[in-house]
Amino acid sequence: MKKTKVLLIGAGGQLGSELTQGLWSIYGIDNVISSDIKDPQGILKEGRYEKLDVMQKDKLYELLKSNDITQVYHLAALLSATGEQDPRWAWKLNMESLLYVLEAAHELKLDKVYWPSSIAAFGPTTPKDSTPQDTIMDPTTVYGITKLAGERWCEYFFRRYGVDVRSLRYPGLIGYKTQPGGGTTDYAVDIYFKAIANKTYECFLSADTYLPMMYMNDAVKATLDLMEAPAEKVKVRSSYNISSMSFCPAQIASTIKKHIPDFTITYKPDFRQTIADSWPKSIDDSAARNDWGWQHQFGLAEMTEDILKNLGNQV
Ligand code: SER
Repeated sequence: MKKTKVLLIGAGGQLGSELTQGLWSIYGIDNVISSDIKDPQGILKEGRYEKLDVMQKDKLYELLKSNDITQVYHLAALLSATGEQDPRWAWKLNMESLLYVLEAAHELKLDKVYWPSSIAAFGPTTPKDSTPQDTIMDPTTVYGITKLAGERWCEYFFRRYGVDVRSLRYPGLIGYKTQPGGGTTDYAVDIYFKAIANKTYECFLSADTYLPMMYMNDAVKATLDLMEAPAEKVKVRSSYNISSMSFCPAQIASTIKKHIPDFTITYKPDFRQTIADSWPKSIDDSAARNDWGWQHQFGLAEMTEDILKNLGNQV
């Protein structure tokens, strides 16, 4: 059997460094190359790192070939809020880079590809509560449009060429080790930093805006569980719904208050409110649970305790 060698693209983002560490623990630090358009930050400096602009297809192929890469995790993308600042660029970056990776997987016969989709692939007429795996998808952001189109491309490459591509529709991801980069769910990260630093937070979504969310530890676990699952168990080749919790700003604020009693929150919704209002409030992820045994570990209370403990120790 070929030795597993992993390339992670977009490692400098919110998920990248934590996923890189998860990959180190499975495949060994020498068998994982993380990459991003930026210089390596933080923990990424401890492992193998290549600076890569994924839009340079030749460089991507060169990196894959010269390192005998067998698996690619492609995380580089513009997110929902930043994508709206430059829709044409968001489309180009998110779509073309995915096609480069899928084509490379086909042409170079890679073993597996991972690519993230998102709850942003749903839209205003999607059922909002317990959103099913298969349902109406009418995204209104350019980011969401690229996720829906990307899902179709993933399934196309699987059906037509047998590329073993796997994907999850992430909810808002919450971690404390790296800052998110321009998403609508970012408030749920920022609130913890501001709670510790200032004991107050001005939220860009309204108090009762429910969104599906997930702690970073669970997101890494879900990703690695899916990628380690036997191919025949991975029945959905577009992207799996995945879920662990759902809450609104008022709820996260009251959970934080249990640890920081004088914490206060104010609300000043901006353009991201419209984006959030177009997304599901909660997700039905029974397909992931049934097909490859997905189980989450963190709810709002456990996550809050873990983040505040760790952040409190840092500042
Ligand atoms: N967290 C992402 C965003 O808000 C959704 O995938 O853009």
